Amino acid sequence: MTDTAPAAPAVTEPARETAPVTGPENAPGTAPEPGTARKAVSIAGKLAQFSELWAQRTVATVNDYEVKVAKVHGEFVWHRHDDTDEFFLVVSGRLTIQLRDGDVVLGPGEMYVVPKGVEHCPLAEEETAILLLEPAGTSNTGSAGGPRTKAPVAL
Ligand code: NI
Repeated sequence: MTDTAPAAPAVTEPARETAPVTGPENAPGTAPEPGTARKAVSIAGKLAQFSELWAQRTVATVNDYEVKVAKVHGEFVWHRHDDTDEFFLVVSGRLTIQLRDGDVVLGPGEMYVVPKGVEHCPLAEEETAILLLEPAGTSNTGSAGGPRTKAPVAL
């Protein structure tokens, strides 16, 4: 007859809380890798990953909004968004948001919200990096459509 040690009480690991999903782990359709969800997202790092102009990259989602970055140079097309406001933040460079009744010029760290339904045409005389916030599915050319329409790519 042998004594057996009393079984250690079962220890149940508390369920790990799922961290808010941000960054590349939040690419649409991508589940976060374990242990990678709590990472800062570097906007500069994202911008370093592409060079295409006027082609938005989605870097995160906020509920049903997308946080997107883009590099722009030259003039875009006049358009409006009938269903949503559009948030612009300049990361580097200089962006002129042409409006029918005047221009808004943004330098690094400056932002502007183009109200829903207001015609605008972004213009950058030098290469400029911008961050945009708007509902997922918002077309970059809005009401104008045409050849410069481009869906954002997850980054
Ligand atoms: Ni727009």
